Amino acid sequence: MNSTSLTGIKPSGVPHIGNYLGMIQPALELAESHRGYYFIADYHALTGRPDRNKLQEHIYEVAAVWLALGLDPDRVIFYRQSDVPELPELAWILACVAAKGLLNRAHAYKSAVDNNLAKNKPIDADINTGLYFYPILMASDILLFSADVVPVGADQKQHLEITRDIATSFNDQFGRTFKLPSEMIRENAPAIPGTDGRKMSKSYNNTIPIFAKSHVIRKQVMRIVTDSKAPEDPKDPETCNVFSIYRHFASPEAIDARRKAYLNGGLSYSRIKQELFELLEDRFDRNRCQYFDLLSEKAKIDRILKDGAQNARSNAKKMLGRVRRKIGID
Ligand code: TRP
Repeated sequence: MNSTSLTGIKPSGVPHIGNYLGMIQPALELAESHRGYYFIADYHALTGRPDRNKLQEHIYEVAAVWLALGLDPDRVIFYRQSDVPELPELAWILACVAAKGLLNRAHAYKSAVDNNLAKNKPIDADINTGLYFYPILMASDILLFSADVVPVGADQKQHLEITRDIATSFNDQFGRTFKLPSEMIRENAPAIPGTDGRKMSKSYNNTIPIFAKSHVIRKQVMRIVTDSKAPEDPKDPETCNVFSIYRHFASPEAIDARRKAYLNGGLSYSRIKQELFELLEDRFDRNRCQYFDLLSEKAKIDRILKDGAQNARSNAKKMLGRVRRKIGID
């Protein structure tokens, strides 16, 4: 238990099976052998300028998903980012050692700029400063608690590079203070397609939620885009969106058998979709009740998150104190 695993999930939508495979499941596994700091990154979600009611709903949904999937708040420090004011405080200090060019090169900011340029708009049109500052707050999330390993989706790799870069600048100027964290990325996770075949993502509206009423999950699964081959036709499992999800949930024997059935013909898309739906039911049905129970007892979630924040803060204050002494403000 000497190593620390830390990760955040942004409450910008209902968590989906891509989040589950990409980071929730690995994070829960790491929590078995690491000190865990897992949190709801609500300040990060503000860069998307969410509606206030939606934001609140998503905060509870994200918390309930983690708890229903087995996160144990007695073993893992589980909190809401905005309940730890030391995080934005450290972020400011880090901003003052972070090169501006580092943020100019951040993917999310660059792609917002590219979007503007493509539309002949001024480069920074509609880009809020929070989006630009995002990697610094994330570095603060990670460095404040001396995380060793950060389970994240592949799209977060650059944020970890930026975090190490900032930690190194600080350590070089003020002496060794921050640990350099490593990302843990599930190699095959980016291959999880959404219902339209693009990467599964809240922003594409193509997700299959982890927890929802059966008919909602079923509808999403049946909606997965396929080609128009007839049931008897041989099919290519490697390019099939249904199979790409199926292989993350089925047993090795079932995957093998289904791969052969694709190649031989005779397996209809509606059949394999039904099988995928049943696998998802099997995997998540046990925890679904707990998810909906938690959502109907928000005070319980509030209590868990407040307790977590209190624990997090007692460690955060120590680190922030050290940092302040090093920079000459104490
Ligand atoms: N940026 C992450 C995402 O969009 C969320 C996040 C915020 C995070 N702070 C973090 C992840 C710290 C890991 C560690 O998925």
